[in-house]
Amino acid sequence: MTGPGVVVISHPEDCRIVLSTHRFAKNRFYQAFALVEDNIYTTQSPELASLRRRQLRHTFSQAYLEQMESVIFECGIASLMRRWDRLIEYSADGTQFTVQYEAEFARLAIDVIVALGYGQSLDTLGTSHAQVARWVHDYNVLSMINLILPVACTQWPFTLVIGSLLQSKREFVASVAAAAATRREQLKHLKQRPTDILQALLDGEDPESKAKMTANQVVAENIAIIVASTDIVAQTLTWTLCYLMLYPEAYRQATDEVRRMFPRQRTISYAQARAKLPYTEACVYETMRIRAATGVFLPRVVPKGGATFRGHFLPEGTELGVNVAGANHHLGTWTNPRRFVPERFIGNESLKQNIFTFSLGARVCPGKNLALMEILPTIANILKSYDFTLPSNALFTPDRLDGRGNPVVMPRSHRFTSVGPAYPDRDCQIIVSKAADSMI
Ligand code: HEM
Repeated sequence: MTGPGVVVISHPEDCRIVLSTHRFAKNRFYQAFALVEDNIYTTQSPELASLRRRQLRHTFSQAYLEQMESVIFECGIASLMRRWDRLIEYSADGTQFTVQYEAEFARLAIDVIVALGYGQSLDTLGTSHAQVARWVHDYNVLSMINLILPVACTQWPFTLVIGSLLQSKREFVASVAAAAATRREQLKHLKQRPTDILQALLDGEDPESKAKMTANQVVAENIAIIVASTDIVAQTLTWTLCYLMLYPEAYRQATDEVRRMFPRQRTISYAQARAKLPYTEACVYETMRIRAATGVFLPRVVPKGGATFRGHFLPEGTELGVNVAGANHHLGTWTNPRRFVPERFIGNESLKQNIFTFSLGARVCPGKNLALMEILPTIANILKSYDFTLPSNALFTPDRLDGRGNPVVMPRSHRFTSVGPAYPDRDCQIIVSKAADSMI
């Protein structure tokens, strides 16, 4: 959040100083999101933040992620491709269909998080994509109301006015709690422990104190993970496809690379994509640099003793906004930062360390590798299997240039904790057809 009294910092060196340790704590904004109880995302306490990371250290480890990959693949990417194959088959001419891709990627992100966080499919859960999307949306709106007018969440008659939001939160919490209860029951009979986020939360133990999470803490953490991950993954995928459509040469190079390296193989795993698709991976990183889906600024507070940035002293208690987009475009690090140039990462792997999109340091996004495990194979597999073209009435095309000669990008809107397209129904239409090679 920004406003009077908030100092926004954009220089990468300053952003690094602020983010790397617990010294610059998260500000009160986050507390408003603690609608169940304080958790890994909301806490201002270094002790709780560190405890949760110790308890969840296996969850986001590469080894555990690899065990979850088949679920991520089956419920996310494969499910999306089956759906697109059906849409093509039943389209008017049997060769192509037009789709709103932000909505498609939102479905994918929901399918994956429901499979991992609830340990069930939407069908088993007895709910729909729209319902889960509604729970996440309402949870965010309620958190903002809680920030601006906390009594509204607890005192009549305000509770009457926002009754539907409170009801939505109750349903969300009940669904997550029920999933945990079902899993505890199933564990009595299961021979093998499932590998998913729900199980990791239930099993999570601090190696130092041996503390595990209470039932309510499991719910709070699971909801934090669902809310922190769903929109932002969908929007990162959305921006990636958007930029590929605006930069046809990048689209052509990524598509050629994918189809050259995996000519007939039906699916591409995360490890395969990382090993064999440097250009496609660079397109994902360049998207995360140029249009981070990370929401607005990362708010922090100056600690005791104050701090000096670029020669300006800021007293203790000053609110800071770490400007991710600013750092990601800083001229000291990036040449021609407003242009989408995936090539900048080729042969220059270390440059990726200068992207602030997942934050860094003490409160770095713990879901970074999970997110990449969803995003990179999704992009690789869809580029392999489908051809994409913009509709003839698209407003934002490679030929529509700004004053600097770069394609104009569709407008964005800032949504609580992420940044997505402002008018997805207008700007995210795309024609999808089967790639010639994938029909062999
Ligand atoms: C492209 C996708 C993603 C991006 C760009 C992203 C970005 C971020 C950023 C910038 C933060 C720091 C927020 C802050 O300090 O205010 C963060 C925190 C967090 N993210 Fe992610 N995230 C992504 C996906 C995920 C996924 C898939 C998960 C979990 C499955 C996840 C879970 C979390 C959690 C729990 C936190 C809070 C960590 C803490 O405060 O210590 N994120 N994320």
